[in-house]
Amino acid sequence: MSSQTVLRHTTRTTWDNLVSVQEPTPTAGKHEVLVKVRSVALNFRDIAISVGKYPFPVKEDVVPGSDAAGDIVCVGEGVAGFAEGDKVVVAFDLATAYGPIKGWGSGLGGPVDGVLREYIAVPAQAVVRVPEASTLSYAQWASVVCTGATAWNALYGNLPLRPGQSVLFLGTGGVSITGLVLAKAAGATTIITSSSDEKLAHVKAKYGVDHTINYKTTPNWAAEMNKITGGNGVNYILETCGSGTIKQSLEAIAYGGIISVIGFLSPAAQEEMPDVAGLVIGKGAVVRGIMIGSKQLLEEAVQFIGARDLAIPVEKTFAFGRDQVVEALGYLASGQHVGKVCIDF
Ligand SMILES: NC(=O)c1ccc[n+]([C@@H]2O[C@H](COP(=O)([O-])OP(=O)(O)OC[C@H]3O[C@@H](n4cnc5c(N)ncnc54)[C@H](OP(=O)(O)O)[C@@H]3O)[C@@H](O)[C@H]2O)c1
Repeated sequence: MSSQTVLRHTTRTTWDNLVSVQEPTPTAGKHEVLVKVRSVALNFRDIAISVGKYPFPVKEDVVPGSDAAGDIVCVGEGVAGFAEGDKVVVAFDLATAYGPIKGWGSGLGGPVDGVLREYIAVPAQAVVRVPEASTLSYAQWASVVCTGATAWNALYGNLPLRPGQSVLFLGTGGVSITGLVLAKAAGATTIITSSSDEKLAHVKAKYGVDHTINYKTTPNWAAEMNKITGGNGVNYILETCGSGTIKQSLEAIAYGGIISVIGFLSPAAQEEMPDVAGLVIGKGAVVRGIMIGSKQLLEEAVQFIGARDLAIPVEKTFAFGRDQVVEALGYLASGQHVGKVCIDF
């Protein structure tokens, strides 16, 4: 029996505790495909899990990582529509084909062993083939799994973005920059905040964002947003920061605008919790929680990105191996990145 390298968190107090083990290479069971992993995109969630601060269930000795792109190397009994050699991505949640993800029962790299291993056997129903003509790298496709599906869900999962509308992104992390690429391709006016003028200049030059705001030097960025939009407010906000920024998001949103609550990068102190209900009513805003996205939403994002060959923002890649993954998690946690950090196999 052949073996493969698998990374596991045996103790979740620091990402340094990651261990490399040899385990049997799985086979493709009934209705499964075996995927040779080519690239894994890391997420803020992987940091939170590695230090034991993820607010949802995580299995013991978990194999971390939720986002993989690779090649099908074996097709199990009863699988139709896939063949050896197909280039694919694996959905974040193995069980949710469409509709909202319910609970956290089958999210890779959390309650279920994830993708930081050489081979993974998954249900064929959780796999999406990427367009053959695409020039995107495996790392770029891996980045679409969580970040891309999340940004797509925020923009199209409920009340779809329309041409000419405006979208605000908070910070220059993976969700923001991927969302920016999607929104630009749809003809939206885009605005982004960052703590760094250097990062803002980079995002303007590389991704063509229309407006930038430094949230450190302009702490009242909601007022600045209202100037940019001529007093109308912004139509969409990808709220990646949480209770620490929601008040300003509600001040910056247009009447009837849509705030997608995605992340928890900047929680407010208990005594500073804003009166969200009053602000939501005052703006007639739609405030919608986002839980990644179903396989159907991932498939839509893959089609949209593939048809336009959109430059999904991978900033840095590391090689697969225990030490390199530890280094990559440290780099992601340092916040130096703009866009995605990936592991290439
Ligand atoms: N609900 C879901 O389905 C879902 C899916 C994906 C991600 N998430 C969550 O969404 C959040 C973002 O994920 P990510 O992968 O994009 O993270 P990331 O790549 O690690 O982004 C980090 C960046 O966020 C920015 N940031 C931090 N605090 C900020 C603040 N107070 N105001 C504005 N920007 C701030 C910083 O940008 P600058 O350096 O430019 O200031 C930082 O570099 C995380 O909490 C993650 O867990 C949730």
